[in-house]
Amino acid sequence: MIIQENNKQIFTLQTRNTTYQMKADRNGVLLHTYYGPKIQEGDLSRLIRFADRGFSPNPDEAGRDRTYSLDTLPQEYSGSGAGDFRLASLELELADGSRVADLRYVGAEVKKGKYGLEGLPAFFASEDEAETLVLTLEDISAHVRVELLYGVLEEYDLITRAVRIVNTGDEPVRICRAASACLDFLSADLDFITFDGGHVKERGLNRAHLRPGVQSVGSIRGISSHQHNPFVMLCEPGAGEEHGTCYGLGLLYSGNFEAAVERDQFDNARATLGIHPFHFSWTLEPGKMFTTPEAALICSPNGFGPMSRQFHRAVRSHLLRDVWRDRRKPVLVNSWEAAYFHFDTPRLMELAREAAKLGVELFVLDDGWFGHRNDDFTSLGDWYPNEEKLPGGLSALSAEINGLGMEFGLWIEPEMVSEDSDLYRAHPDWVLNPPGRPFTRGRSQLVLDYTRPEVREYIFQTLQKVLDTANVSYLKWDMNRSLTQVWSAAIPAGRQGEVYHRYVLGVYDLLERFRAANPHTLIEGCSGGGGRFDLGMLYYTPQIWCSDNTDAIDRLSIQYGTSFAYPPSTMGAHVSAVPNEQTGRSVPLETRGVVALSGTFGYEMDLGKLSDREKDLVKEQIQAYRESYELIQQGDYYRLTAPTADGAPTCWMHVAPDQSSAILCVVSGQTHAGPPFRCVKLRGLDPARNYRVSGDEQAWPGDVLMQAGYPLPMLGEYQSLRLWLKAE
Ligand code: GLA
Repeated sequence: MIIQENNKQIFTLQTRNTTYQMKADRNGVLLHTYYGPKIQEGDLSRLIRFADRGFSPNPDEAGRDRTYSLDTLPQEYSGSGAGDFRLASLELELADGSRVADLRYVGAEVKKGKYGLEGLPAFFASEDEAETLVLTLEDISAHVRVELLYGVLEEYDLITRAVRIVNTGDEPVRICRAASACLDFLSADLDFITFDGGHVKERGLNRAHLRPGVQSVGSIRGISSHQHNPFVMLCEPGAGEEHGTCYGLGLLYSGNFEAAVERDQFDNARATLGIHPFHFSWTLEPGKMFTTPEAALICSPNGFGPMSRQFHRAVRSHLLRDVWRDRRKPVLVNSWEAAYFHFDTPRLMELAREAAKLGVELFVLDDGWFGHRNDDFTSLGDWYPNEEKLPGGLSALSAEINGLGMEFGLWIEPEMVSEDSDLYRAHPDWVLNPPGRPFTRGRSQLVLDYTRPEVREYIFQTLQKVLDTANVSYLKWDMNRSLTQVWSAAIPAGRQGEVYHRYVLGVYDLLERFRAANPHTLIEGCSGGGGRFDLGMLYYTPQIWCSDNTDAIDRLSIQYGTSFAYPPSTMGAHVSAVPNEQTGRSVPLETRGVVALSGTFGYEMDLGKLSDREKDLVKEQIQAYRESYELIQQGDYYRLTAPTADGAPTCWMHVAPDQSSAILCVVSGQTHAGPPFRCVKLRGLDPARNYRVSGDEQAWPGDVLMQAGYPLPMLGEYQSLRLWLKAE
């Protein structure tokens, strides 16, 4: 609910469990007065203290009052160059070269429903599910109007934010920085939690108490990156899974981002989240508007678990748009780790036949089907089937696959081009690179200039032709390098700072076109695994390949970190062969299944190489996938223990929304002689009901399972359990 007290210029956003408040003060400065556990409305600006602080200057309106300074006030959207020396939300360069942004409140409007953002991903909701608040600010000297957009999805405790910047003057204005959200806290006694790593080790959780100054994570790679995720958290130092106030801040954006937090001289804190200012500038001609990506905020008064579950619910029902959201996704087998580039139709059919026999429903042909691509030095951009490998092309292959009763899926990497390709030979200027400068290659490939509509049009036409000739029901949209030498031949010299962002807009535009033209095709996002696992991509691709690391033990940490913002149903997870390609580790097939079953589930191996016993196990896993699909897809996710290096088991649960059933998953790490007896406390059950646990004769009372715990059997190294709990 949005409560607007016009006479007092107070705006309070009430969600189910939280309250967020702003107030435009007597000078029109929009103050941030509170965000946290739910409280009654009322003027919370009384929390703000004023003092004359040395070197904290005073705006003109303050007159002789030296206690009023933008340097000390908690602000809703901070300016720059006018006396606030902390993290800026907005930086402008005006036609006269001055670099000041100083905003004052002008007006407010409340609307039913949730605003949308043209060309950008955004949460959506119907008129009775959400409200929108638009607060208009202005820098009168710059002739710049700023609209702060707030979407309130009350049931989910979700507050979304985005900013529109309009040039109302008659000279161009340059935007040098425009955060999507700014969040001030009156206390910096907070921990900053980020999800970091690299290729094949994405989204490991890191937590540190705020120290003085700015601390930040971000990406300047043109993609949201494996290294840092555009989802971060702030929390009370004592906060944990089920206690303490915490805040999750996610950006719906798949390019350069920055999530920064500053602890200032008076122990206040400010967080900003938005497009990374590196190499960013946007020229706003008179009358034109710039829109930032959307930020999503959820505060939980009771720890990380409830915050994650609210994110999961909101993502599932108000961000994923696909028809696949409500349909059971097929169990797939992907050819990559089974065949890499070395295949032909008979070999693929052999893989597919074995998979079909075991109950696999979708065969995905990964890299290597086009041009003359037999290794990763060639052919990206030449999106026509390699008839030597695949006589009759994809129409023949997909028909054969369909003949086995399986659906057919295809890998593409549409943003890239190889120098050895007809496309590059025809259009060498279609790549991002300043003229005359030697290339920096990534995986030996170059990046197409997606800022150019004709490039996107070409890719759309050629790929759509492929999709039209074959019966493709799944696409894996990959992206395998960081951007460098970011320069477009189609953009004037003075506006090259727009290229990174225009590239992302181009990717979104093309994804949207493919979605519209192929509404029944399931698209899985991928960037060398999880290099673009973000809320922005999920708007276009309802699942994302979590990591190129398919080792089940490493996956525990990757999927654990991913689960803080993203629901299991979005996490691409497959069983692969052992010893694992990345780690050399051999984990039992049962355990590989338990880990992959908590994601989108499929296989990434030659199933024909399995023993009869293993094949039976695969059949059982596929059956388990079907039986638990609803629960994994729609259920609540509980992290019971965090993956550790010392071998203690990693435990998590999926619980049905009505608490009638649940699945407990346990994976043991390294073992040592004389292991302790272990009991794991379950969560999310109904304390008043009795639960039958698979394998146990007697039912367990819910309160016993949650308060005393469930005694785990002794598990050998990397062994696992996946137990159903059913309420009697
Ligand atoms: C990336 C993907 C892999 C696979 C290869 C193909 O690394 O993450 O799953 O598709 O590309 O080249």
